[in-house]
Amino acid sequence: MKAGPAPAVPPVRIDGASGTILLRTTRSVYVLRADSATGSVLHVHWGAVLPWADAVALPVWSEHDDSFAGRRDGVEEYPVDGGARFGVPALEVRFADGSSPLEPTVRDVVLEADDHVVVRLQDRTRPLAWELHYRVPAGGDVLERWTEFHHTGTAADGDILLLRHASAHWPLPQRPAWRLGSVHGAWSREGSLDRCALPVGETVLGSRRGHTGHHANPWATLDAGDADEEHGEVWTVALAASGSWRLTAQHTAAGRTGVVAGEGHEGHELRLAPGGTHRTAVSLALHTDRGFGGASRAFHHHLRTHVLPHPGELRPVLYNSWEATSFAVDEENQIALAKRAAALGAELFVLDDGWFRGRDDDRAGLGDWTPHPRRFPRGLRPLADEVHRLGMAFGLWVEPEMVNADSDLHRRHPDWVLHLPDRTATELRHQMVLDFSRPEVTDWALTWLRRVVADNAVDFLKWDFNRSFSEAGVPGPAPDARRVHVAHARGVHRVLDRLRARFPHLRIEACAGGGGRVDPAVLARTDQVWTSDNTDAVDRLAIQHGFSQLYPAGVMSAWVTDSPNPLTGRVVPLRFRFHSAMAGVLGIGGDLTRWTDAELAEAAHLVQLYKDIRPVVQQGIQFRLLAPGEGPLTSVQYLDASGERAVVLIWRTSPAFGTSCPPLRLRELAPEARYRDEATGREWSGATLTGFGMPLPELPRGDCASALVRLRRVDGRGRNT
Ligand code: DGJ
Repeated sequence: MKAGPAPAVPPVRIDGASGTILLRTTRSVYVLRADSATGSVLHVHWGAVLPWADAVALPVWSEHDDSFAGRRDGVEEYPVDGGARFGVPALEVRFADGSSPLEPTVRDVVLEADDHVVVRLQDRTRPLAWELHYRVPAGGDVLERWTEFHHTGTAADGDILLLRHASAHWPLPQRPAWRLGSVHGAWSREGSLDRCALPVGETVLGSRRGHTGHHANPWATLDAGDADEEHGEVWTVALAASGSWRLTAQHTAAGRTGVVAGEGHEGHELRLAPGGTHRTAVSLALHTDRGFGGASRAFHHHLRTHVLPHPGELRPVLYNSWEATSFAVDEENQIALAKRAAALGAELFVLDDGWFRGRDDDRAGLGDWTPHPRRFPRGLRPLADEVHRLGMAFGLWVEPEMVNADSDLHRRHPDWVLHLPDRTATELRHQMVLDFSRPEVTDWALTWLRRVVADNAVDFLKWDFNRSFSEAGVPGPAPDARRVHVAHARGVHRVLDRLRARFPHLRIEACAGGGGRVDPAVLARTDQVWTSDNTDAVDRLAIQHGFSQLYPAGVMSAWVTDSPNPLTGRVVPLRFRFHSAMAGVLGIGGDLTRWTDAELAEAAHLVQLYKDIRPVVQQGIQFRLLAPGEGPLTSVQYLDASGERAVVLIWRTSPAFGTSCPPLRLRELAPEARYRDEATGREWSGATLTGFGMPLPELPRGDCASALVRLRRVDGRGRNT
């Protein structure tokens, strides 16, 4: 008799007697306990898989009992402001009578679905209820949490202000010390990776800018200081939010650590009217015992499996005209570029900024989304048709959330911008932000976007956003005047969702002056992101390294532009520029009318090569072999899911005479398999490539040398065979 399939481990288990809930991911568990006696929902364990019987019996940590201690600080799943709690609250409110303290009681625990459990709480006497949602997406290590609030009272109770309304608090286990990993940066310097000791106190990462931000990204890793790229326990917490946000890593003097993740920065409030509800953004988190690389790969897998709209599609090689023609676009010069781009093998041509009425520079035009009459006297359709005739898809740049004072839209609707009547409206890049929390504004945006996409046979939009918020509020005595810091981004999400529903073929690139709005919520409704306005191929290695910590190469748009680089002046050989951009979604952004025939021929060859490795790079598993700045070489390996193909990119930004580079030890190749280097024909066993290392290919002399190695399994016994 054939044995049946092994009984599947349920993603959620509940023990009614103890109130214990166990969430089981592929390689870890998360245990909490809803304690109806105290009204607390207490954290028990997050990490290595434990037997169910132990999870139910494990004690909950408690602080030393004295009259100054917050007894459960650090171990509550959703700490509120109220009672003997002195840590960072996930929930803080102000009731209509001005009072704040909450007294939670546990109503019940509801299994909404096999993979989704809800702990329902309410205040002991006040009209506020909140639900803690936990979901275990199938087949990975990521957990999802969010919270829903309900004003359960009547008009007589008045409104409730949510002063802090986090998605989740993620308590961590006890370790002697903790290290916090995150990225910081600025415009054109996104993604600088930083790992430093977590001090006792509250360390806040966040954005007060109304968008995700270049300066930080909504995720953090925590480890006990003992993890490295491929080993050790790592916990990652992220937030799927595109407005202002805050991640507070708290390390208490009593030795508890956790991260509170939620939308809105300090001073941001949300008003809940009687009967009103609010659902927070989703916070995502994972535990792995496979180091920072393992954490990244688990996140990439989650984003591909559960977040991206079309994970199975390969992203096209695009050409974008921004660095070539800046605002001076016209039908003739764009067609000239399109012809050259098509000859190189580009599959998508994107017309960037400058195509619409009044847009001769960045001082005017935003808001008036009809073709520029002098530059495109026949409209955009002839260009789109020519691009299609050349065999490419047609893409168009838009910046729907912005307006220039010098535009008909602003003259018609000056009240649509984020502003306060008695404050100076700060202009940045000569533009102001349209309030996308207002339905009349998002309706207007959807109407013209639909028209532009339909009239011009647009296949792809580059959706840009080029300034942070200022004077963001609602005129008048609204108590939650700063809600736009969150509500605007949600309005943007709604427009994107509706646009995609109307045009299922449309693909979208998210951009905010480069990587100023990259987050899991944006990735749920776009197909790729413009990583940075810095296209210097050397700087990009560090930016891409930071990007890869959470986001996969298959969404990381990277262009080859001119040398010297227009931003940094650095001279970089074409091959290195290509190899740097081939680590993600390859695009070309140089002025092709000035490239020599030899450069065009080399570029065409490299585009062809990219198309060959594209499935492995965009959809494979990524290993950061050597990080930028840590030695003479930087290297990344990609492995396709079947284990048949591996791609290795190696960069050396400057020669270090006299230093020798050890063989490059590759990851996760089958030890018994044989792999052939597709360029040289040399063969090595998987055991050699991972154990001894891959002998380094010869790199050209001088600065900015690079190599691409393609390995293919040749023993005919791949994982799928
Ligand atoms: C910022 C983007 O990141 C650039 O690529 C370009 O589209 C400009 N905006 C256009 O204004």
